[in-house]
Amino acid sequence: MSYIGFISVDSLKLLLFSIVSYFIYVHLLKPLLHYIYIVIHYHGFYCQPKSFLLGHLRQIWPNFPFSMDRKTLAVSIYKQLYKNVGPDPSRSLSIFWASLLPLVFASGHEVVEEILHKKNLKKPMIFKFIGVGDGLLSSEPALWKIRRRLIEPFFTTRKMRDHAKNMYQEVESFGKQLDEEVDKPIDLIHHIHTSTLNIILKSSAGIPLDDLKEDKAALVELVATLERNAVHRIGNPFYHFDWIFNLSTFSKAYYKTIETIEGKIYNIFRRRKQLLQSLPSNESENQDFLSLIEGKVDDQGLYDELITLIGAGHETTAVALRWNLFNIGNHLDVQEKLYQEIIQFFPDDKPIDDMDKLKECVYLEQVIKESLRLNPSVAGSARVLEDDVMVKGQKLIKGSVVGVSGLATHHDPSIYPDPEKFDPDRWSPENASKIPKTAWIPFGYGPRMCIGYRYAMVELKIYTAQIIRKFSLKSTRPHGSIPITYEITYQPTLPLEIIMTPRNNNQ
Ligand SMILES: *[C@@H]1O[C@H](CO)[C@@H](O)[C@H](O)[C@H]1NC(C)=O
Ligand SMILES: *[C@@H]1O[C@H](CO)[C@@H](O)[C@H](O)[C@H]1NC(C)=O
Ligand SMILES: *[C@@H]1O[C@H](CO)[C@@H](O)[C@H](O)[C@H]1NC(C)=O
Repeated sequence: MSYIGFISVDSLKLLLFSIVSYFIYVHLLKPLLHYIYIVIHYHGFYCQPKSFLLGHLRQIWPNFPFSMDRKTLAVSIYKQLYKNVGPDPSRSLSIFWASLLPLVFASGHEVVEEILHKKNLKKPMIFKFIGVGDGLLSSEPALWKIRRRLIEPFFTTRKMRDHAKNMYQEVESFGKQLDEEVDKPIDLIHHIHTSTLNIILKSSAGIPLDDLKEDKAALVELVATLERNAVHRIGNPFYHFDWIFNLSTFSKAYYKTIETIEGKIYNIFRRRKQLLQSLPSNESENQDFLSLIEGKVDDQGLYDELITLIGAGHETTAVALRWNLFNIGNHLDVQEKLYQEIIQFFPDDKPIDDMDKLKECVYLEQVIKESLRLNPSVAGSARVLEDDVMVKGQKLIKGSVVGVSGLATHHDPSIYPDPEKFDPDRWSPENASKIPKTAWIPFGYGPRMCIGYRYAMVELKIYTAQIIRKFSLKSTRPHGSIPITYEITYQPTLPLEIIMTPRNNNQ
């Protein structure tokens, strides 16, 4: 028998064998067994007809695995999402089989309550593909908890008063630009995107509203490209593996977009530094978003949170506002009632920046809530379950990826009779009290709900009030005639055209 020090070769072999077995068990066998368990478990759940090996992939990607243009992919993802979790309340859980991997789709207010609950803080891996780094939207629970606490003070009631003043300053000059666009069909997409980006960069980085115009124009385009790229990557299961994705030609364009955005963001950081140096030091009172987290997170953290704020904070508001104007332009009775309320609180050119008065505009809030119900800006939310969850008598198991559909939840006929109808009266004080709080989730629900929820609502109110008191609107296409596509945000596939007529010319 040979000895190495005190240990015999046999016991060394045994030790080695144990270590190797342990790693095989933990990293190979256990995940495999768990995966088999998940597949068997979800086998009996409701799902659309599928093929054995590809599952439902063919439905979103008809010529799988050959390349497919991004537009078609976005439309078919949307259609399949909707088919899976259509507004049928009995179908509040269904399985989408991405080949052999089951993804749970959920809708309906009871289910939302369970899934977006505080015990489920983990987001699925696909959030990493959006390209906004480890910002609040996509970060792991541990990091998210720290950052969320740092960022929360940016959205306090006191801060909201400053934000409202900033917003109105921009909205007033935005309103003046619209004077050039009257009496012809127009989708205000470009005007609105640029304007909401002005607001977010003013309050987040102290960039003056009319500064860095070229960088801002470029950012608007880049963020739109970033979203389309993300959908393209998410829609292709092969692209979920970095090493395969990096072999594709598409990955070059994908990384190039992210890199170009980085350049723009660093311009913003530089500009902000210049501006801060030129200010008298006693004016640091009016803190922007970055100063809240500066020194507490590293440079990458600053970058991630700012790009997340830009990505999540300007496009979503912009698309919500376009839908809102389109809906108002299709419901002239609503528009008249809204106009009367607005001029009661904000007559003539009175600045629309008083939070207390805005709160009193109850009908304005009803209209915006109804528009966000019909046309939420984002598809919904998703979690990786951190524990087993029982919903409606069915068990969802730990580790499952669960998507929650806002659109389907918002169309539940048992909560919203005649769900396709645009009816702000659903949100009148006595009617709204009957709607469960998890039946309206344009900003998500629970602890990971959109941190900018109130910010976005105030912004939507100020824009809408300013436009409605200046112009009467008429949409060129009828209500319900515009198909939707999925580009991270829900986008209309046709222009949301309105015709604006100046009010003072009518009277
Ligand atoms: C893929 O490419 C990106 C960008 O060049 C790089 O950051 C990443 O590490 C690469 N991943 C792999 C697995 O090669
Ligand atoms: C900062 O100081 C200057 C000159 O001392 C003064 O004019 C200005 O009002 C001060 N600003 C604030 C916000 O206190
Ligand atoms: C409540 O909703 C019903 C049905 O939409 C509507 O008829 C009624 O007018 C609403 N109540 C108010 C005060 O708006």
